[in-house]
Parts: sequence; C-alpha cells; structure tokens
Amino acid sequence: KGATPFSPTGAESADTEDAARQQGEFLTTAQGARVADTDHSQKAGRRGPTLLQDHHLREKITHFDHERIPERVVHARGAGAHGVFEANGAAASVCRAGLFAQGAQTEVFVRFSTVLGSRGSADTVRDTRGFATKFYSEEGTWDLVGNNIPVFFIQDAIKFPDVIHAGKPHPDREIPQAQSAHDTFWDFVSLHTEGQAHAMWNMSDRGIPRSYRMMEGFGVHTFRLINAAGETNLVKFHWKPHLGVHSLVWEEAQIAAGMDPDLHRRDLADAIEAGAFPKWDLGIQVFPDTVDSNGVSEMFHGIDLLDPTKFVPEELAPVQVIGTMTLNANPKNYFAETEQIAFHPGHLVPGIDVTNDPLLQGRLFSYLDTQISRLGGPNFGQLPINRPHAPVNDMLRDGMHQTADHVGVAPYKPNSLDGGCPFLAGADDGALVEVAQHIADAQVVRDAPATFDDHYSQATLFYNSMTEVEKEHIAGAYTFELGKCYEENIKVRQVEQLAHIDHDLAVTVATGLGLPAPAKVPVAEVVTSPALSQIGRE
Ligand code: HEM
Repeated sequence: KGATPFSPTGAESADTEDAARQQGEFLTTAQGARVADTDHSQKAGRRGPTLLQDHHLREKITHFDHERIPERVVHARGAGAHGVFEANGAAASVCRAGLFAQGAQTEVFVRFSTVLGSRGSADTVRDTRGFATKFYSEEGTWDLVGNNIPVFFIQDAIKFPDVIHAGKPHPDREIPQAQSAHDTFWDFVSLHTEGQAHAMWNMSDRGIPRSYRMMEGFGVHTFRLINAAGETNLVKFHWKPHLGVHSLVWEEAQIAAGMDPDLHRRDLADAIEAGAFPKWDLGIQVFPDTVDSNGVSEMFHGIDLLDPTKFVPEELAPVQVIGTMTLNANPKNYFAETEQIAFHPGHLVPGIDVTNDPLLQGRLFSYLDTQISRLGGPNFGQLPINRPHAPVNDMLRDGMHQTADHVGVAPYKPNSLDGGCPFLAGADDGALVEVAQHIADAQVVRDAPATFDDHYSQATLFYNSMTEVEKEHIAGAYTFELGKCYEENIKVRQVEQLAHIDHDLAVTVATGLGLPAPAKVPVAEVVTSPALSQIGRE
C-alpha cells in the first residue's frame, strides 16, 4: 500500500480507514514506517543501557501510558450493543418525530450499566441499572437515558452530587462497592426521605436483575411530545423486555459476583452472538398536557408528573406500545463504542421535548459538562459511535482533538461570504421548536411544590403490590444491607422510616437486626388501589 492520502474534506478514504484500524500488511510505526523488530529496544551493546533515540520504543510506551481515560463519574461499568428500532406507528398521532412513523427503522446503540461500582466491579451487585439508548434518526440523534427503575432518589438535580457521594465507597477506606451496604447510603436515605421509594425498589428483586435482557427500562421523567398539528401531550417512556422481567435471588447474585463477575456482559454478548437477539417493546403512558381544577399543570390523578420520585400505575394510564427494539450486533471494540459513547438527555429530535422536572433540568447541564472532561475536550461528537446519522452543519470549530477539516471562512449566520444568506429551518422544515411556556409571573425561589412532600405513598404502593415471597426478599435485603452499617442510630432511623411505609415490614427488619420494634405511625394513603398490577411480571 502507498502512503495514506491527506483528505482536505475530512472524509475518510479507504486508506485512512485502514490506517486507523491497523489493517496494513506490515507492522509500522504510528507514522507508517515499517518496523522490523518490536520485541527488543535499542541498546548500547547487548548488555548496555537503552538508547533515548529509539523512537519506536518511546512511541509504543508513551501511547500505552495514556491508554486509560477517566471512567464515568457514575454508571462506570456497562455493556452495550447495536440494534434497530422499528416503529409501529401508534405514536404518530401524538409525536411528529419521523422515527415513530409506521414502519420507520432507526439504528440504535444501547448501553446497560450499574450506577455505583467502578469499571471493574461485579455485574450482579444490588444497584439500579442504567438503560441508555441512542437512536440515530434521520432527523438527528435522540437519546433516551433511562434506568431499570421508574423512580429516582431525589427530586432536584442540586442533590445529585450528594446522593452519589453517599452511595460511592467511603472516602477513607474506599469500601465497599456494593450499593446500600454502608453507613453513608442509609444515612442519606433515612434523612432524605424522598429516597425511600427508590431504595424500596433497590431492596426488591428489581435490584438484582438476572440479565440485561430481562430488565424493563424507564425514561423516569415526564417528557412532552408534539404532533404535526403542534398539539402537546405528556408521556412517560417504558421498555418492556420480550423475555419478561426476571431477577436473581440474593444468594445467586452473591455467588455470581464471586464466580462470574462479568455475568451480565457475558450473557448479553453470548446471546447476540448466538443469534438470540434480545427485544424490547417501547411504550408510552400518555397524560393530557392541561391544567387541573386547582390551576396546576403536569398533574395526573393527584400524581405530580414533574416529581421524578413518582411513577404512574399502569391501571391509571396503560402503557401503549409504539415500536420494538432488537439488539442484533455486539460492539467490535469495547473502548471505541461502549466506553466512548456519550449520551445526553438533551439530545432531542423535533416532536420530543423536556419538561420542568427539576431533576431533568439539571441533567441537561451535567452530561455534556462531564463528557468534556471524560472524553478530553469538546469534539467527542466526532467519534464514530457519537456521530449523528443525520447531516451535521453546526458551525462549531476547532478545539482539542478536532478531526474535521472545516471549509469556509464564515462560521456564523447570516454571512455574505460563504454562499450568501443562510438557510435556517423552521418548524415546517423539521426543526426543533420549543413549546411556548408561560412563566411570566414566577418568582425566583429555591423551593419545591407542596406535592413533592409526599415521600412514602409510592413506596407503600410498590410494597403492597408484592407477593409474599417478594416481601420476604425485601425484608431480607433490608436486614442484610442495614446489618452492614456500623452506626446503630442509622439502622434505627431507617427502621423508623420503614414504619411510614409498612409497619409489619419495619418490625420484621428491626427483629432481624436485633433492634426494638419501632412505634406505629400512620401509613401514607396511596393514590390508587393497593392492588397495583404486577408491572411487567410474566
Ligand atoms: C450517566 C441515567 C440522573 C449525571 C448516566 C447513565 C445513565 C443515567 C443510564 C449512563 C450513560 C451511559 O451509559 O453512558 C440517569 C437517570 C437519572 C439520572 C435515569 C434520573 C432519573 C442524573 C442526574 C445527574 C446525572 C440528576 C446530574 C445532575 C450523570 C453523569 C453521568 C451519568 C455525570 C456520566 C455520563 C458520562 O460520563 O457519559 N445517567 N441519570 N444523572 N449521569 Fe445520570
């Protein structure tokens, strides 16, 4: 092969791709010069010192020295796969996004993850799982960055550093990796009672999935959809696995963590390699985007849709299937794809918009900010896994790790130099258009709506929906995890919290921990029938 040609347009020729992919016939230096020996450094004599002039040695070691990038600050351990999403057209009446048009097929990449463990931690720990999907649509990239649990620990993004500091390993001893097995986590949730519902889901079998292929996914927040006529609806997104929802039992999870800490990533990769492609239906719960009788918007049957610690029972709003995702190809290179992919809840396409959920609002800032640090500057969008499949013309320029050779002299609009007056798309041309919102009479406050004060009813609702065996698992999980706390007062305070959810549960856990039974307190009224359906259970 001849020399790699310079491409003034930034487009990759076959030769530049070969160079990047290390497909040349001979081993070469990074500059393409053929190498005869890569096993011995140059020395002054067979027994002499190594020479500074050995560029091949220094290039090889220098690159190796810089191979690692920082792991994600949360969700560091993950596994991903490529696939396709096919819409059935059911969402077309509520959303103008082309990816929901009947029969539309959109390439996707999904990354599943645990939240708290580091990159090398075990897959089967008790934790929330991330379920992040990148849809490479023709109208731009849409990221649905969700979890396998429909509620979250906190209601305001300003508390995210706090809850993560409480869940990550202790600053002094750097132990343990598993969620919930230490004082700071239980200290946090027993003092920040809005976290009780999420903690209850974690203590249930949902906290120890059997396989990534057998997990539900949730967008958690409420989103706003806009149809072709400009009408809006509020929705929550759900992924429903075709294989059903299955969990490990705690003993299995512990054994697997020791014997096969890669269980979930192995299971996903093996299944795809064997042609047993995992599938999920994507569904939406739809709520009217109206103001209730109290003049409050984003409320549904007394549930505040802006509160990310609440889910909406499926009896009140059935999940309507709008398409199916099939994961059909494993990454060829973990680092290039699964590690370097960058999701962002603000990656939206026309027809999908965010709401004022204060947790979502903070996420809109956080992801790009952290990725600039994690991926070394502002140009990680040019990495193959992050490149949109829609044409890009963003006027962004330069910066660290710039790989494009941009043409033109006037990266601003309008300009009179690069082809005259620019074309800017309007709503009719498929542009992102924000939904107008009335906030004129708002006061600047650091506060939350009164509806955010209900911290227990949904934990009770969830607990009441469990079978007896599942309730036993929950009691066992609280007893095991709280048993790992050193501080007696934290255990006592968390058991008192359980009394607000279910007194029998609180007594069982207290007994297991050798603590006195907590006093009886009124249990919160649940917003709907306690006979909550067995969500997603087969
Ligand atoms: C990463 C979900 C709340 C900050 C992730 C990932 C998921 C996720 C799935 C992994 C993405 C990947 O695989 O690359 C969620 C959900 C949340 C939530 C469902 C709440 C409902 C927050 C909040 C913040 C935050 C409130 C900050 C204010 C981050 C950061 C990362 C991350 C910094 C690492 C991103 C990266 O390095 O690429 N989150 N998250 N998250 N999340 Fe969240």
